[in-house]
Amino acid sequence: MTGRDPTAMPNVFRADNIADLSARSQDLIARRARALGPAYRLFYERPLEFVRGEGCWLTSANGDRYLDAYNNVAAMGHCHPAIVEAVSAQLGRLNTHTRYLDEQIVQYAEDLLSLFPAELSQVMFTCTGSEANDLALRVARHHTQARGVIVTANAYHGVTEAVAAISPALGPHRGDDSHVRYVRPRGVAIGDPDRLMESVAEAIGSLQRDGHGVAAIMLDTIFSTDGVLPRVDDLAGAIELVRQAGGLFIADEVQAGFGRVGPDYWGFRLHGLIPDLVTLGKPMANGYPVGALVAQPDFLSRFGRDNRYFNTFAGGQVAAVAAAATLREILRPGLLQSVAAVGQYMREGLLGLARSYSAIGDVRVAGLSIGVELVRSGAGEPDPEMAAHVVNSLASQKVLISATGPDANVLKIRPPLIFDQDHADIVLAALRKALHAR
Ligand SMILES: Cc1ncc(COP(=O)(O)O)c(C=O)c1O
Repeated sequence: MTGRDPTAMPNVFRADNIADLSARSQDLIARRARALGPAYRLFYERPLEFVRGEGCWLTSANGDRYLDAYNNVAAMGHCHPAIVEAVSAQLGRLNTHTRYLDEQIVQYAEDLLSLFPAELSQVMFTCTGSEANDLALRVARHHTQARGVIVTANAYHGVTEAVAAISPALGPHRGDDSHVRYVRPRGVAIGDPDRLMESVAEAIGSLQRDGHGVAAIMLDTIFSTDGVLPRVDDLAGAIELVRQAGGLFIADEVQAGFGRVGPDYWGFRLHGLIPDLVTLGKPMANGYPVGALVAQPDFLSRFGRDNRYFNTFAGGQVAAVAAAATLREILRPGLLQSVAAVGQYMREGLLGLARSYSAIGDVRVAGLSIGVELVRSGAGEPDPEMAAHVVNSLASQKVLISATGPDANVLKIRPPLIFDQDHADIVLAALRKALHAR
């Protein structure tokens, strides 16, 4: 089993920092720990409490406005008026489930599928990304009659027992992973060649030798928790090896999907790949819980013949309306071109910073999914302390980002898709100040 201490989550609040917080924060932290128990984590050295959201801005309990350059769920901006209005109206009209005929969910399904390659032509609804991945695993295992799964070395795919077991980012206590093999999506140091095909070939051999067979490789197509890696050599070859071994390719688009990477809509398109199964979630309904599994029908046929599927809250009228209203906003002319343009503007700004500050070892950008790898000057070693300093310095400047990667040294900048150049300038200025202060 690989993995690290679960308390080592990047950008985690440590209770030993509590003394200099306000009395209100200290009290809420203590009550939260008592009521929610020990498994939850808070972000930032000084935890934040928000009471209002609008566009790219969050307002804290003491009235300060923070620029949100981190939260991807409210992709069209916090509390988007047209989406709030559509959801509220439907809540007042009807909310049942998918065991009745309903035009809205079928229309939404058709509209969603029209954004996929023709091969991916059926969709099943869930409430979360975890459920979508769990369902994808069930489908893949039923289709292949195999159990083994290949994921990346610091992947995160969710919280059910099945998907926690394939989420090494959760640390060593995530459950039985004897049927899971881990591959590195990139070379060890910046600039080292990727060896994905080699490690996938080894993983397949190991799963076959141990009698698990290969059900699937599941990949977050921008490798967010592996350090934000929108380009990985050998990906197509690695997928081909899995397919030759009988396994399916599941693209986890919970992070990458719905325009996060720009006009390509989906992360798998950055790699020129067509997955067998695709999972969706987070930004799908701008904060209302909607997820989905999109599939090539051949892979659903045996599963559908042998199982029935019902998910109480998934695909009901409010979910359908929330997702449809969000999709309408995402498809507004110019939005995804703006994602690409602002992403490019951020890239240029970050590369400018990299010329002044040798702590920046690499800048990786796909649309508005941005990773900035921080290294110790000269040595090129990962610098998680620097990443923690920058993330917390930005929070003190009222700009929200976080950190990620197996070494917790990659700044993760992942704002709502409506982020514009003025917002980008605020982030870049705050980053300059944080880097200068070290
Ligand atoms: C890549 C990826 N897959 C799956 C999930 C799980 O989604 P959810 O939290 O909606 O269950 C996440 C959540 O962070 C994710 O980032």
